[in-house]
Amino acid sequence: MQMLNLTGANGVSEIYIETDLLSHAGQMIADVFSPSRVHIVTDSTVAPLYLAQLEQQFTLPVTSTIIPAGEEHKRLSTVEGIYHDLLAAGMTRKDLIIALGGGVVGDITGFAAATFLRGVSLCQIPTTLLAQVDSSVGGKTGVDLAEGKNLVGAFYQPRLVLIDPEVLKTLPDATFADGMAEVVKYGYIANPEILDMVSQPEYQEQIDDIIYECVKIKRDVVAIDEHDTGLRMILNFGHTIGHAAEKLGNYTELTHGQAVAIGMVAAMRLSAMRGNADLTAPLITLLQKIGLPTELTYDREAIFGALLSDKKKFGSTVNFILVREPGRAEITPIEAETLHEYILKL
Ligand SMILES: NC(=O)c1ccc[n+]([C@@H]2O[C@H](COP(=O)([O-])OP(=O)(O)OC[C@H]3O[C@@H](n4cnc5c(N)ncnc54)[C@H](O)[C@@H]3O)[C@@H](O)[C@H]2O)c1
Ligand SMILES: [Zn+2]
Repeated sequence: MQMLNLTGANGVSEIYIETDLLSHAGQMIADVFSPSRVHIVTDSTVAPLYLAQLEQQFTLPVTSTIIPAGEEHKRLSTVEGIYHDLLAAGMTRKDLIIALGGGVVGDITGFAAATFLRGVSLCQIPTTLLAQVDSSVGGKTGVDLAEGKNLVGAFYQPRLVLIDPEVLKTLPDATFADGMAEVVKYGYIANPEILDMVSQPEYQEQIDDIIYECVKIKRDVVAIDEHDTGLRMILNFGHTIGHAAEKLGNYTELTHGQAVAIGMVAAMRLSAMRGNADLTAPLITLLQKIGLPTELTYDREAIFGALLSDKKKFGSTVNFILVREPGRAEITPIEAETLHEYILKL
């Protein structure tokens, strides 16, 4: 078992990574919390796979909410439904809420835990690769509005994060590949050893170690910049153009991981245009091996327009994360006019 601590403004999050951890999660939860009841939130895909296995490990009363799977349910009405279930179950501030699922379940449940009775203890049990390496760690919670994604939320750290790589075996290949886009991101921004691991033919057999290295990076960045006012931006490598592409595809043509993959290649090309070493070719090879797209197919003017309306824009500059060498990234503000030239050349 591997363990990491994240010390935030409101205490410590303990993060455990172990194959088959789900089979004894109940005991680990009992060791950390002393609730009189537990409420599990999961979704309609994860529930038939893992909910019963988790529920049966508790001797105290357990209730659950099963939300329909899918990003379109990451909204306030779903959170309201959870509040009603929590009240019906008799949950108090001393009890525990568990998120069992991917990033959607994690974000919604985290927000419900942050706000119900002004805050109830939270345990995250992420079941997608993306949730294991990214969304379950760091305390960002929230929901989407009709106007855009993640527009309402709270910073709220889970006291415990339990990561069981075994559950990834039931993920569709495309969903696994989505999470791998974030893994590659971590390699380029902070630790090239991750890229070496992923380059191995049987890299999936080492997924525990890969997850550990990724979570360690996220932990380190969040520990310095919990509330996302500076360094945490480094985690956005590939996400600036990625978000623009996601938006132009109406969030249906590309998954988040696919958009990030395309965005990383574009950011790498941009980096080369600014005189840095051209690292594009090995990145493309790696992403193709994983099964992720690498080419930006949207109109360049439309991409530029979407970039300028992105929330990460400050004045007339857009902040890009550029990689100087694998493992070393920099936050680089680029003037709108210069950026326009670059984007047309992509
Ligand atoms: N809070 C953060 O810091 C943060 C960071 C990155 C992304 N996010 C958010 O995460 C969300 C995306 O998360 P995601 O990619 O995990 O999507 P998701 O939660 O929608 O999960 C993807 C699909 O996989 C299914 N699934 C989950 N676990 C499974 C398993 N073990 N076996 C089989 N199927 C399984 C789900 O039911 C769903 O259909 C987005 O809403 C994004 O905004 C949040
Ligand atoms: Zn991402």
